[in-house]
Amino acid sequence: MTSPAIKFYDAHPGTGDLRREVISGLTSSPKAIPPKFFYDKRGSELFDAICELPEYYQTRTEMDILRNCTAELVRLIGPDCLLVELGSGASKKVRLLLEELRPSSYLGVDISKEFLLSSTRRLASDYPWLDVHAACVDFSHTLDIPHCETLDHKVSFFPGSSIGNFDPDDAIDLLLRIAEMMDMNGHLLIGVDLKKDTGILNSAYNDAAGVTAEFNLNLLTRIRDELDSDIDPDAFVHHAFYNPARGRIEMHLVSTRSQRIRIEDHLFELSAGETIHTENSYKYTIEEFAELAAAAGFHQQQVWTDESSLFSVQLLKTI
Ligand code: AVI
Repeated sequence: MTSPAIKFYDAHPGTGDLRREVISGLTSSPKAIPPKFFYDKRGSELFDAICELPEYYQTRTEMDILRNCTAELVRLIGPDCLLVELGSGASKKVRLLLEELRPSSYLGVDISKEFLLSSTRRLASDYPWLDVHAACVDFSHTLDIPHCETLDHKVSFFPGSSIGNFDPDDAIDLLLRIAEMMDMNGHLLIGVDLKKDTGILNSAYNDAAGVTAEFNLNLLTRIRDELDSDIDPDAFVHHAFYNPARGRIEMHLVSTRSQRIRIEDHLFELSAGETIHTENSYKYTIEEFAELAAAAGFHQQQVWTDESSLFSVQLLKTI
């Protein structure tokens, strides 16, 4: 069988971006590497496995909320939109919307090219009535995507609380880019993880099966395999904890010994116990997120949560 046709826009960030951002991140103090580099093919598979973990309440809770709110959503949004999914990954959540919302066009946007192509091809085959587009872009930098310019009535879908992986100022910039992409006139349906008991948060990022640790360490495997580097992932361990003062989970890779690593012609010294900061995952109250969204010109039109207020799905509208 031939694969179903999707229209593909490729602005895949090359190895040059990885090299530049890793070298600049390891030169800075404290050392840090942006979390967007987790998502090579293996990293995307590991993230999918995280979503199934008993400790990682986010995915199943968000799915339940979406299941319960689709009818109301359809009423608020109306038919025939261009549905733009940011960080589309395995595209499981959007399936809950497609049947009910019946958009005329779907655009999946993701930084992980192979993952994006396979998931949008599956959507095109499962929903033959849907006009399916895919754009491989780093949306932390740009949302200039040709297909977006051609249609009105855009609805953006940004699930999974990926907004939490941006520091608040960068989150506002990203929301502004989304508003601009929607011509300052559209809906944004966004998943936002909520502040809660610290024990629940710490377990979600320190699962018993060690999948989150593998996901974190895979970043180093990727650097070793894609760049000219002698970095040894076995010389690091995963460390994740909730930082209440900053309202965020922090993930780090801790050097287990004093070591020197080489990346291309750059050398980096790490002392034993020194960390590379790989991810923040901010948690918000509903009011805190309303404030952040307002700074980007959005208001909360509707907010849905689960019974235990673990997670929220928010329909934002440009003011
Ligand atoms: C994609 N993002 C919302 C996840 C999170 O929870 O911050 C990534 C993740 N990191 C560790 N586990 C999951």
